[in-house]
Amino acid sequence: MNVDGKTYKTIWYDEKEKIINIIDQTKLPHQFVIKKISSLDQIIYAIKNMEVRGAPLLGGAAAYGMCLAIKDNPSDDVIDDAAKKLINSRPTAINITWAVNKIRSELIKIDNDQKFSHGIKIANKICNDDIEACKSIGSYGYKLIKDIFDDKKIEPLNILTHCNAGWLATIDWGTATAPIYQANKKGLDLHVWVDETRPRNQGSSLTSYELNHENIANTIIADNAGGLLMQQKKIDLCITGADRIISDGSVINKIGTYLKALAAHENNIPFYVAVPTSSIDWDINDANDVPIEERSGDELSNMSGIDNHGKIQNIRIYPEESSTLNPAFDITPGKFITGIITEKGIFGANEEGLKKLKSIA
Ligand code: MRU
Repeated sequence: MNVDGKTYKTIWYDEKEKIINIIDQTKLPHQFVIKKISSLDQIIYAIKNMEVRGAPLLGGAAAYGMCLAIKDNPSDDVIDDAAKKLINSRPTAINITWAVNKIRSELIKIDNDQKFSHGIKIANKICNDDIEACKSIGSYGYKLIKDIFDDKKIEPLNILTHCNAGWLATIDWGTATAPIYQANKKGLDLHVWVDETRPRNQGSSLTSYELNHENIANTIIADNAGGLLMQQKKIDLCITGADRIISDGSVINKIGTYLKALAAHENNIPFYVAVPTSSIDWDINDANDVPIEERSGDELSNMSGIDNHGKIQNIRIYPEESSTLNPAFDITPGKFITGIITEKGIFGANEEGLKKLKSIA
């Protein structure tokens, strides 16, 4: 997508230097920094510290991480160890496990001297496939937006999104934002309500940044404002992404998604979740079996931002002795979700819908 007139993907391999480039998302929106990654440890650091984040991008990063791990020693032990470390680096997004398993099953079939170059080919393909999947999500989602637009004849159409399921969370296009980008390119008049998304503020620092660069009208709101806006009929549609959808249709996504889905249900507002099929966990059908990542309380007690001199500062906003709890994701039962937008079409968020999708995935 577009950053100051130049198009970027969120991650790419440099064939000449044999390294990976990422956009360091912890520096956005104040600084646009490209970081070079040359080892497994560095990619794990980038994942854990959310320099790269968002389920599909985590999958791509994990795939390249597997390659970096075997650059000098492609033994089975190194592959197994890297797989374990990557899968544990952020436990909720299923895309990491999906990408690691995909690449590992290919690597074991290949001679040692070919493993690195073959691994890179697979990692590149995982990333390119994700771009295609997101584009396709965009086309299905665009039709949905167009139908609501034609039906309601409201200008602008107001869409609410939570967290960042934009191009920065994928390789390009995004999941929840792909329909918005396509609708905007086709000239529909849209406005996006962007949930700030405490504690890491992915909405205000990443989603709004993306939308601004694509010239799409957007307004940041506190996470708690959505309910009132729904009651006031200022939201026509909600679209979010997911870190994992399980086979009964439950959606595991950024903390706060559940409360938005509940409010949308109460106010008869359609609530869609957009994912590539790589974010679907076909093996789990009880949401309680999904590991919910708990992150450091420092993410609540400290905030970083830019001061009047253009310097990035980190400040503490809570009393030092206060305790914190910081679960990063929540579970939204399928009954509160109008549909799941995938690259294969739109499906019900229930066992039947997921079965139908599995049969063509
Ligand atoms: O903790 P994050 O920033 O990795 O969480 C991201 C989300 O919750 C996204 O909504 C999800 O990964 C979907 S990204 C297309």
